Amino acid sequence: MNIPTYVKNEKAISWIKEIAALTKPENVHWCDGSQEENETLCQELVKSGTFIKLNEEKRPNSFLCRSDPSDVARVEDRTFICSVNKSDAGPTNNWINPVEMKTTLKNLFNGCMHGRTMYIIPFSMGPLGSHIAHIGIELTDSAYVVVNMRIMTRMGKSIWDVLGSNGEFVPCVHSVGAPLEPGQKDVPWPCNKEKYIVHYPEEHAIWSFGSGYGGNALLGKKCFALRIASTMAREQGWMAEHMLIMGLESPQGEKTYIAGAFPSACGKTNLAMLIPPPALQGWKVTTVGDDIAWIKPGKDGRLYAINPEYGYFGVAPGTSEKTNPNAMATARKNSIFTNVALTLDGDVWWEGMTKTPPPQLIDWTGQPWTPDCGRKAAHPNARFTTPANQCPCIDPEWENPDGVPIAAFIFGGRRSNTTPLVCQSLDWANGVYLAATLGSETTAAAAGKVGQVRRDPFAMLPFCGYHMADYFKHWLEMGRKVAHPPQIFGVNWFRVDNNGNFLWPGFGDNMRVLKWIVGRVNSKAQGVQSPLGWMPRYEDMDWSGMEFSRKQFEDVTNIDVELWKKEIQLHEELFMSLQDKLPKELNSLREQLLTKLSGSKK
Ligand code: OXD
Ligand code: MN
Repeated sequence: MNIPTYVKNEKAISWIKEIAALTKPENVHWCDGSQEENETLCQELVKSGTFIKLNEEKRPNSFLCRSDPSDVARVEDRTFICSVNKSDAGPTNNWINPVEMKTTLKNLFNGCMHGRTMYIIPFSMGPLGSHIAHIGIELTDSAYVVVNMRIMTRMGKSIWDVLGSNGEFVPCVHSVGAPLEPGQKDVPWPCNKEKYIVHYPEEHAIWSFGSGYGGNALLGKKCFALRIASTMAREQGWMAEHMLIMGLESPQGEKTYIAGAFPSACGKTNLAMLIPPPALQGWKVTTVGDDIAWIKPGKDGRLYAINPEYGYFGVAPGTSEKTNPNAMATARKNSIFTNVALTLDGDVWWEGMTKTPPPQLIDWTGQPWTPDCGRKAAHPNARFTTPANQCPCIDPEWENPDGVPIAAFIFGGRRSNTTPLVCQSLDWANGVYLAATLGSETTAAAAGKVGQVRRDPFAMLPFCGYHMADYFKHWLEMGRKVAHPPQIFGVNWFRVDNNGNFLWPGFGDNMRVLKWIVGRVNSKAQGVQSPLGWMPRYEDMDWSGMEFSRKQFEDVTNIDVELWKKEIQLHEELFMSLQDKLPKELNSLREQLLTKLSGSKK
């Protein structure tokens, strides 16, 4: 194997040689991250039928890709945390003994890159050289992964300089698991029906087999930046969170940064790029990140966050000029669209993009489509991969290697009742309780019965690389360690009336809630104490330009004691399932909450 002269890291070199010897690719390509390299790969992907070049005028330098219909989403049931001890993975993760898993994977990976090229992708999660950033190297046999990783991470030759001769990196091995016999014709989306997404938390290593899609294959994202990073963060005293980061600037120019965790399918990208309603136009919202935050204590006793990613991998359906004009503008060029529909003039379309669908399309499976055909034109989990620096509301500090200071954490699920529009926890520990008991009702896109509450602590259920109760403990400890921990808030945009209609308009009007939150952290907004914490009174929120009566406000904020007693029983069920390691403090907070509710008049 030819090693480029700029590659000096012996550990990386011997690992790459070892993986090449196991997977037996036909060629090895060291990715330099250059534009020319990207163009060549995109051209090859067009030639092989994986990519369709979109209309250069409508969607410059952009491509459509259709995956195999069996490979369209993250596969949580095939995702494993292979810690040495099962008890370290905890009951919320799939676990297999690492020795056994290594034997399984050695067999699967043996010769799995036959007839293909192995691409070596060095990448940084976070700004190059930032003390909060970390480096990974992904070895993959998918050119689709390379061009996506180039958008989603800082990738290329310069990473080797940062890594030097003995820098640390997270080794990530990926194969679509579809070796080619000599002369065998490739398919546009090679994959394997057997899939394994495997994490070794003690070794900080990732192995992924069989899928080419999203979080299964772009290993910098969920596998590294959340599952492995959460274990590194616990060891090293920082936090890796499933959180957006946004800046909120008041008309007086005062800037407040907040980070927010929401389970998948709760509109995180829309919130991160929110446009305030006209009456609150003096306020400015800027985006640091839409999915993941890496957070470290700063010298001044505050927590500082970076977005480890370089692009957005957003859900396309539902994104429109109305719901998220900033995301639409971001994805106008240099983007990859996976599993959306193709218009007759070579552009893309998905459900919700326009009110009236085009009369004719080619759907995500490549079939002709008309509005009355009874099928979806785009897959519900169709995605755009798009560079963050194209976002019109990108925060000027988004690449600051020291991160931005976080003043508040917000947590929100999709709850049709029970949880009020907004409340502020009394203190850090109560906030940890609120986040630990976060739940979201399942939508059609998620697994399970529609309308069922799925507990999703900190929105980290599929992404925590260790025992969830140890993660709660880490959060409790972080709050004690920093002098000025952020305030913690719960929000819920999704309450409905008896007919199932949303009671809160959401989108831009969420700015009204954020304005109250900013007011609270800057000691400028009033509130009243409730059993759940501080809540705004009607007069504490800014209603300018909006008709929203006291009665409507009551409907989105009232606390139904009977519903809450049932809710707390569900908290108890969650805690029971984590009992072996659950911090006692959380159980006593649960009891206190029950007492407070029982004593409340509402
Ligand atoms: C995502 C998710 O794709 O959380 O970001 O599922
Ligand atoms: Mn996510």
